[in-house]
Amino acid sequence: MELAEVMRTTPATRTFTDEAVPDEVLHRILDHARFAPSGGNRQGWHVIVVKDAETRTRIRELYQLSWREYWAHVKIGKVAFQPGDTRFSQPWVDLEEARETPAPNDFADEMDTHPVLLIVCVALEALAVLDHGLPRQSIVGGGSIYPFCHNIMLKARDEGLGGVMTTAICREEAALADLLGIPESHAVASLIALGHPQQMVTKLRRDPVEDFAVVDRFDGEAFEVR
Ligand SMILES: Cc1cc2nc3c(=O)[nH]c(=O)nc-3n(C[C@H](O)[C@H](O)[C@H](O)COP(=O)(O)O)c2cc1C
Repeated sequence: MELAEVMRTTPATRTFTDEAVPDEVLHRILDHARFAPSGGNRQGWHVIVVKDAETRTRIRELYQLSWREYWAHVKIGKVAFQPGDTRFSQPWVDLEEARETPAPNDFADEMDTHPVLLIVCVALEALAVLDHGLPRQSIVGGGSIYPFCHNIMLKARDEGLGGVMTTAICREEAALADLLGIPESHAVASLIALGHPQQMVTKLRRDPVEDFAVVDRFDGEAFEVR
């Protein structure tokens, strides 16, 4: 596929057919994703391809718990775990109660059956977090791992696959670390599910350039081609 088309037509796909994704295709996806940039080119990624059935079942359970926390926020119209003026302090909802309240969701409830499940970890010591210590939520560290994650999504699309990069399960990092033997030196950046889409959506809803690009100042005129 043309790069521009891949960029413009890679949605979040959460329902897959039963068709398996051959290891060689997944290998090709990772082999392209590795050309992502990272701070100082330290390439701190470490990908766990989860194949074991029992491990997948446990991952489903952990994702469901995270999803319940997320959904409890959505239900009251809040952005889940949104940082405040400074750093994240208090959740909007009672998390214990949320975790005990079922929140049906096909993607979560069928997590163990998705053809490919990847847990993408990142080495903390590989991250140069240039906004570390600023009096607000840190953002820079993720820049050394999410381009890699998105490269996986783009190459999967190029291979005719679909998928979604998710972060909900990061709420359960401790349990996931226990389950998968992830050392303290690493953080969980995402869970990526891939497979053959039940339906290939190619029309994405995104705001136009004029809505977010401005000239000279944050409150400057919209950037337009003259
Ligand atoms: C940082 C990040 C975290 C995300 N976490 C989740 C998640 O936990 N669960 C989920 O189902 N989708 C997750 N998504 C997918 C987004 O919901 C999706 O990219 C967005 O709604 C746009 O969907 P579209 O491309 O189909 O329009 C995440 C995406 C990003 C970039």
